Amino acid sequence: MKKDRTDGRGIVSGQASSDDIVCESGIRPLFLKDYIGQDRAKENLKIFIDAALKRGEPLDHVLLSGSAGLGKTTLAGIIAGETGRDIRTTSGPAIERPIDLVIILKGLHEGDVLFIDEIHRLRRPIEEILYSAMEDFMLDRVINKGVGARPVRIRLPKFTLVGATTRIGSLSSPLRARFGIILPLSFYDDAQLKDIVLRAAGILQVRISEDAALEIASRSRGTPRIANRMLRRIRDFADIKNGGVIDSETARDAMKSLAVDRNGLDSVDRAILESMAFRFRGRPASLDSIAAAVSEEPENIEEVYEPYLLKLGFIEKTSRGRQLLPAAYDYLGIDCGSL
Ligand code: ADE
Repeated sequence: MKKDRTDGRGIVSGQASSDDIVCESGIRPLFLKDYIGQDRAKENLKIFIDAALKRGEPLDHVLLSGSAGLGKTTLAGIIAGETGRDIRTTSGPAIERPIDLVIILKGLHEGDVLFIDEIHRLRRPIEEILYSAMEDFMLDRVINKGVGARPVRIRLPKFTLVGATTRIGSLSSPLRARFGIILPLSFYDDAQLKDIVLRAAGILQVRISEDAALEIASRSRGTPRIANRMLRRIRDFADIKNGGVIDSETARDAMKSLAVDRNGLDSVDRAILESMAFRFRGRPASLDSIAAAVSEEPENIEEVYEPYLLKLGFIEKTSRGRQLLPAAYDYLGIDCGSL
């Protein structure tokens, strides 16, 4: 792999080559064949990439949506890997002023992949610069001020914008409409996560049994990032306590020490559910009041904890706030009639 170039504005660029197995984090797949799960997104993406390559054109702009940790950044890297292009990476919050985006766009080369993570957090005046850049590969700027002000159009190289968002509903319609390809990512099932754990263990040269990989998978909230993080932590326990081997007993003991339960819920999840049951007595509660009750940021609750609690059917969002569902009372061992 060509060495990554990092500039002073937090933009990282690099290029994939065919003999790369993994990219920066060490275990991220760089090519579609190594990417496990998300079959529909993968199959469609392969067609779109092959068609673009066949026509000798850059791939149309791609919007990846889904909860944190499902592999949006990995897929952006794969798009660059599969098309043999450089990737330049930034994020919505990192682009503070319009000029920051102008500099990024002017620095692109023909065919580059520009990855903007958390694209829903771009401010409107900055986002508006993207409209003509995405549509016509043109930068509309006004030069001079006052009576001498005049609009200019600057041609940009053809590039592929890959945007990632955990909140597709927060994206403005004009921005969303400029993506030709929209790929929603969903939670992974246990079998897929097990394969992801085994693949990562192979790369990290960790000895792990199939049962232990499944045990980790089933407690990873449908999320590869969590599965891989848990693997690394359990490897620490295995190195110290079991000669480096992760069997199911070592995995279970380690997860007990990490306070991760059979559902993959941790102490914060439990605090959320308990505050909803006891403090709010099962009545609908606002995100802000739940966040205050458990001393977490509302955004953190919304992006990290809530999606999986919703998926488990433990809570629901109603027009009056978040509410506990019967499955959560069962989980907490509470008779809801007793509240
Ligand atoms: N690592 C993280 N996400 C992955 C995926 N979907 N497939 C393989 N390895 C991964």
